[in-house]
Amino acid sequence: MDKYDIFLNDLNKHLDLDLHGYKRPQMERRINSLMRTLQIDTYDSFIKKMREEQLIFNRFLDHLTINVSEFFRNQSQWDILKEKILPVLFLNNKNIKIWSAGCSTGEEPYTLAMILEQYYSGNYSILATDFDIRVLNKGIEGIYSPKDISGIPEEYLKKYTLNQNGSFRVIDNIKRAITFKKHNLLKDSFDTNFDLILCRNVVIYFTEETKNQLYRKFFNSLRTKGVLFTGSTEQIIQAREIGFNSMAIFFYQKP
Ligand SMILES: C[S@@+](CC[C@H](N)C(=O)[O-])C[C@H]1O[C@@H](n2cnc3c(N)ncnc32)[C@H](O)[C@@H]1O
Repeated sequence: MDKYDIFLNDLNKHLDLDLHGYKRPQMERRINSLMRTLQIDTYDSFIKKMREEQLIFNRFLDHLTINVSEFFRNQSQWDILKEKILPVLFLNNKNIKIWSAGCSTGEEPYTLAMILEQYYSGNYSILATDFDIRVLNKGIEGIYSPKDISGIPEEYLKKYTLNQNGSFRVIDNIKRAITFKKHNLLKDSFDTNFDLILCRNVVIYFTEETKNQLYRKFFNSLRTKGVLFTGSTEQIIQAREIGFNSMAIFFYQKP
């Protein structure tokens, strides 16, 4: 075991952060660059510092996980969801159960809820999870800046947000359908019987092995005919092997 492995074990043990499934070169680069910025020489003193000062640990989390999200991110995929995938899901079931896994600050589950409200009369519930409590709090609050909401098409913006002194608050009707919850995709158990799981722009730092395990777990969490929606650079190489059928690019169905 080298110094990096010992650091990962200590991080897991003392700060409840497990980075074993993440690609080493990227993580190592980020960790070392932050240590240089903070003028910390050894992994031991870095762990000590993070245990003593929450702000340093928060800074570490910020540095590691890129939380960037956008409303209607990669619009063409949302169009496919709206026009091709959701009609099939509602055909099978009038009350669909959805999971936005790695939801960051809430733009993804709110985008989905706006589309559902606008186009569908069926019932739905959305579980929105992330392992970073700070981003979840922003999602729960549901208040965004003019820059944050720039991706929301006008028709949705008018209907589903309220302008409050220059900030935009998502209306309660949209918020009601979403439950935000802390959940670590690499540690915690998965709920089941989902009709739709979104996991977009989350697995980018995971090793191939971790990704495949995760996609298998998503497969098991879907109900028959359920669909997994991935990010725009995240095609699943082992999709067939896992058992998925492709419905459209970035949409995988459990037969
Ligand atoms: C780039 S954001 C993607 C947000 C949204 N899905 C989107 O596409 O706009 C990635 C999110 O994944 C979360 N994340 C990373 N590793 C995770 C893990 N092991 N468990 C849960 N969430 C994780 C990060 O905290 C971050 O908020």
